[in-house]
Amino acid sequence: MGEPWWKQAVFYQIYPRSFADSDGDGIGDLAGIRSHLSDLAWLGVDALWISPFYRSPMTDFGYDVSDYCDVDPLFGTLDDFDALLADAHALGLKVIVDWVPNHTSDRHPWFLDALAGRSSAHRNWYVWRDARPDGAPPNNWVAAFDPSAPAWTFDEPSGQWYLHLFEPSQPDLNWDEPAVVDAMHEVLRFWLERGVDGFRADVIHAIGKDPDLPDDPPALFGIPHCALNDVPVTHERLRDIRALVDGYSGDRVIVGEVFLLSTAAVATYYGHDDELHLAFNFPPLFAPWMHHPWSDCIESTYGALDVRSAWPTWVLSNHDNPRHRTRYDFGGSLMGENEATRDRRSEARARAAAVLLMTLRGTPFLYQGEELGLLDAIVTPERRVDPGGRDGCRAPIPWDGTDTHGWPTGAGIEAWLPFPPDSDHRNHADQRRDPGSMLHLYRRLIDLRHRAPALATGGFDLLEITEGVLGYTRTDGDESYAVLVNFTGQEVTTADGSTGEPDHASVSLVGTRVEISSTRPGEGEPFDGLLAADQAVVLRL
Ligand code: NOJ
Ligand code: MG
Repeated sequence: MGEPWWKQAVFYQIYPRSFADSDGDGIGDLAGIRSHLSDLAWLGVDALWISPFYRSPMTDFGYDVSDYCDVDPLFGTLDDFDALLADAHALGLKVIVDWVPNHTSDRHPWFLDALAGRSSAHRNWYVWRDARPDGAPPNNWVAAFDPSAPAWTFDEPSGQWYLHLFEPSQPDLNWDEPAVVDAMHEVLRFWLERGVDGFRADVIHAIGKDPDLPDDPPALFGIPHCALNDVPVTHERLRDIRALVDGYSGDRVIVGEVFLLSTAAVATYYGHDDELHLAFNFPPLFAPWMHHPWSDCIESTYGALDVRSAWPTWVLSNHDNPRHRTRYDFGGSLMGENEATRDRRSEARARAAAVLLMTLRGTPFLYQGEELGLLDAIVTPERRVDPGGRDGCRAPIPWDGTDTHGWPTGAGIEAWLPFPPDSDHRNHADQRRDPGSMLHLYRRLIDLRHRAPALATGGFDLLEITEGVLGYTRTDGDESYAVLVNFTGQEVTTADGSTGEPDHASVSLVGTRVEISSTRPGEGEPFDGLLAADQAVVLRL
């Protein structure tokens, strides 16, 4: 029966601490999410991925789980989750939840028991090793977040080291232990039976480790081991996970975070359509706002993934990296410009990027707040809380232009992180009223994608246009669109484009209908061949 829903869906990532707060403690929660579901339905997204809301000591803000089958009181209760899920489903929104199978919190009862001694029941649920003869950690693996930190911590009482690819508070589970596999499968069943539509699987490529735990090559020293861990046994484990999830009705989906350095390596984690349904594709999270890095990124993605069995995904921002608008501004070529120019141009770039995200072939994931064109918050050292320095992109969502931006904070309590710059006007309520806003642009793009199979699942061909302008077509039967993205700061003329293939005629662009323009004027009119600086258009051919 046709294509699975997740190929055509637009996903929206919710970082629960920062989305919306219902109880005035300054921390977002499940009831807060529930109260804004209608705003997400209005935006038109199809599916929500909710980052962890399980019981957690919060050293990694929920990616350190101490009970996989309960909601942290900070976020609410299981009843709140059920109510959220029921309301989302009633609005036609799917919901996937985060599954963190590589590590638990060091305060998970399993790890507390493992700490009780070498013969404790859960000892082998984690990865323990003796020191090297000279007393050094068992191997040279480096933990994430700090290139000088070993991925091992010494446990004085038992005289052994335990492995953690992330913080010491996040001990790695030992997936060689069958009881761990059973327990983590049970977690999947728990949420599947509650009715979730699938999972986002955290650092899923790390659940298998080379049994010898060999040193990483010295040349790669300083790269977190997590970005290098790529061994065959993980694929077996993924096939079992896939079979478990596919055993439930309703096309549930697993989107895996496979944080490896090449898309070709990531591609193998789709298996033969028997491992991940989808895997994140990270190069666009790091690509600067320039024509060739983007065309390379697109070509390498489509070169590595066979869309018949490995459907691509696209992501511009998430909770782990500076937002793309921030990257295109401070990180980009706008450094020397004055503030007004930077603001105008980073807005233009973020709008053009929205056109890219929503018209490439593959499933788009948008990160809460990018539909408002948010910049990262400026977080002063006293307010920094994240060990990985990721606070800026986790700023609370400004819902309106009041001082508290729709966060019902009580006396003396403020939101857990500062709001992004310009929240007095760059917020949901103001943009909702303004048809020319970034929010409305996202809504129009999502709507067009839903109406046009060519844009969702159609074929893709790069067009040769002119230096600085990326172009491509999306085609499904008779329906065809061209997308043009001007990465330059100058106006350019683009009369036609060519696919570069000898047997393909050139595509005339002038006179075709402008379906969407990242800068609104011109929509619905014939294309005159001119692209303003940092402008993107979707043309109906
Ligand atoms: C990836 C998550 O996206 C990140 O936020 C987290 O810190 C690590 N995995 C560890 O769970
Ligand atoms: Mg709260």
